[in-house]
Amino acid sequence: MMSALLDSRRPLVAAPMAGGPSTPALARAVAAAGAFPFLAGGNAAPEALAAQIAEVRALGAGFGVNLFVLPPRPPDREAFAAYAAELAEEAAAHGVALDPVPREDDDRYGEKLALLQAQPVPVVSFTFSQPPREDVASLQEVGSTVLASVTSPAEARAAEARGVDGLVVQGPAAGGHSAVHDPSRTPDPIATPALVAQVAGASTLPVIGAGGVDGPSSVRAILEAGAQAVAVGTMLLRTTEAGTSPTHRAALADPRFTGTILTRAFTGRPARSLRNGFAERHDASAPTGYPAVHRLTGPLRRAAGAAGDAERLHLWAGTGWRSAPEGSASEVIDRLAAGL
Ligand SMILES: Cc1cc2nc3c(=O)[nH]c(=O)nc-3n(C[C@H](O)[C@H](O)[C@H](O)COP(=O)(O)O)c2cc1C
Repeated sequence: MMSALLDSRRPLVAAPMAGGPSTPALARAVAAAGAFPFLAGGNAAPEALAAQIAEVRALGAGFGVNLFVLPPRPPDREAFAAYAAELAEEAAAHGVALDPVPREDDDRYGEKLALLQAQPVPVVSFTFSQPPREDVASLQEVGSTVLASVTSPAEARAAEARGVDGLVVQGPAAGGHSAVHDPSRTPDPIATPALVAQVAGASTLPVIGAGGVDGPSSVRAILEAGAQAVAVGTMLLRTTEAGTSPTHRAALADPRFTGTILTRAFTGRPARSLRNGFAERHDASAPTGYPAVHRLTGPLRRAAGAAGDAERLHLWAGTGWRSAPEGSASEVIDRLAAGL
């Protein structure tokens, strides 16, 4: 099947996954299997992103690049200081001292945007907040299709007003960060097909549905709800081609983890992770404030990851994590496409 919004043989998308999992090798494998690949520009240095783009461009297939939009959103200073104090002991257990001063940055958005304007890619998607209208227009002028991530009909209408070409509708079952535009709001539980239907009723734009896919029947349910394509993240995390860290990979297969949680504990923005000790201990007290909380906890999470300590690491996972297999990404895409 050919989708109009994305140039791929199958209505399946390898969702952008920052922090390692999205690699050029994963993009190559999913493109060969007929799905549409994304590179994750968030948290990547512009130079590293440029190198990944060059590698994927050489494949000659359609692909997308995802960027974080981070308008300044400093955390409450007192709440931040209290959280830093709360985490000090956990950090000390790994020999890490946390920086109690909140650090803001925009993830080098301007440099990454300039890269995509100078060396256009087929598709650009944005998450976390709305891209400025002029940025959307400038990318369209160089020939890119522009998508915005949304988690509600109201966000869909706001994105439409910015002039984007399509929407990535992310349900709260999704692994990793929620795209919710106001990170102090925790998205209400709703199944992805129901959310896709709501957004499709509120916007005229084509929709890609994402969140909670665990097999071909959930893919079909999202398509039947009105999506043109379905984006999957978690189902690809354990594949050979993904750049998922060894500690994260092992945790996804570890029977000791029995559920997921949507929490600000790791980064100050709601994100779905396996429910581990860190999430249990700090979910209730974590302040809103990305990237300040992300920067605060970063050294602790890096040390935990390197030490194989899955109880203190963000373990991004959607609700379908138990179905995520080992093996090649092309096998995952083939399996998800069954019956389409
Ligand atoms: C490890 C991981 C990293 C992610 N990083 C990003 C990202 O950089 N940008 C983004 O828009 N979404 C990101 N997401 C969300 C995915 O794009 C997608 O919405 C989600 O994986 C879909 O739900 P599923 O994991 O249940 O398939 C990430 C998800 C995971 C699991």
